[in-house]
Amino acid sequence: MNERTNSQISVAETVSLRELLMETTTRFRGGGIDGAEREARWILEEVTGLSASEFVLAASQFATVGHVARLDQLVARRLAGEPIQYVMGHWPFRGLDLMVDPRVLIPRPETEQLVDLALDEADRALGSNPGRAADLGTGSGAIALALAVERPNLRVTATDQSEDALACARANCAGVGRPATRVSLRQGSWYDALESSERHSFDLLVSNPPYIPSTDVVTRSVVEWEPEEALFAGPLGITDLEVLIVGATNWLRPSGSLCLELDPRQANWARDLALNSGFAEAEVVLDLAGQQRFVIARRG
Ligand SMILES: C[S@@+](CC[C@H](N)C(=O)[O-])C[C@H]1O[C@@H](n2cnc3c(N)ncnc32)[C@H](O)[C@@H]1O
Repeated sequence: MNERTNSQISVAETVSLRELLMETTTRFRGGGIDGAEREARWILEEVTGLSASEFVLAASQFATVGHVARLDQLVARRLAGEPIQYVMGHWPFRGLDLMVDPRVLIPRPETEQLVDLALDEADRALGSNPGRAADLGTGSGAIALALAVERPNLRVTATDQSEDALACARANCAGVGRPATRVSLRQGSWYDALESSERHSFDLLVSNPPYIPSTDVVTRSVVEWEPEEALFAGPLGITDLEVLIVGATNWLRPSGSLCLELDPRQANWARDLALNSGFAEAEVVLDLAGQQRFVIARRG
């Protein structure tokens, strides 16, 4: 007879991984977590170190003390409202497995699409010739590392104002291995992180800057857990975008491009500002949900 409380399992009893999964799902449902079963499965896989298919095969095996103790810790964090990505401690981004914690923004699916657009721009300007890219406001290093992994011809400078974020990006560089030897990290505010000798040397500038208007009402878990400096940018959300757009042509080569993620309300303004700031072309690109999510500006 099981004598399980909501958060503890008595040391005397044994419990299978399947039972733990069912129990965790129930606890998550009780905590009002959407996708309770999916998240419970992720956490069980994390705790046991098993892949999804291995977990299915091992489901009738008994959990160890270590599994149960770790599970209880992670479940308590999730039930306290911490995003599942931070609880897991890592999250996929374009095939990379990135370490994430509250020092950095959780990489979003839209930003995976920004990388696609940036790769198209790099290919257009460079073909397979060597070139340089900068990921401004790199956070976890997601964009910079994806560019480096997916295009061996690119050297990438990844900047952030936050030393904490750069420490996380540094760890992710180590996790990625050899392609990350083409990524260099720099601390500083936007273009201040670059050296004056690097003017007009970049083929590609990419950024997913803070762009939420400070007056917007934002989901509680985002405001409570993700770094404020990664989110908000003045009353209209455009203070950082403005610096990035106005300064970009000083750093790009004549054939270079600027690729930005932004809020749909800012898209037409950003495109027009790019056209007034020395870019020959600028276009708004929709995300997969049909929102005006990106601006691509080309010098040549
Ligand atoms: C929206 S997050 C994007 C993080 C990452 N690039 C991604 O897409 O997941 C914005 C990033 O810009 C950084 N940031 C904010 N203000 C900055 C500034 N003035 N100069 C450089 N980076 C800044 C934040 O620390 C944060 O890492």
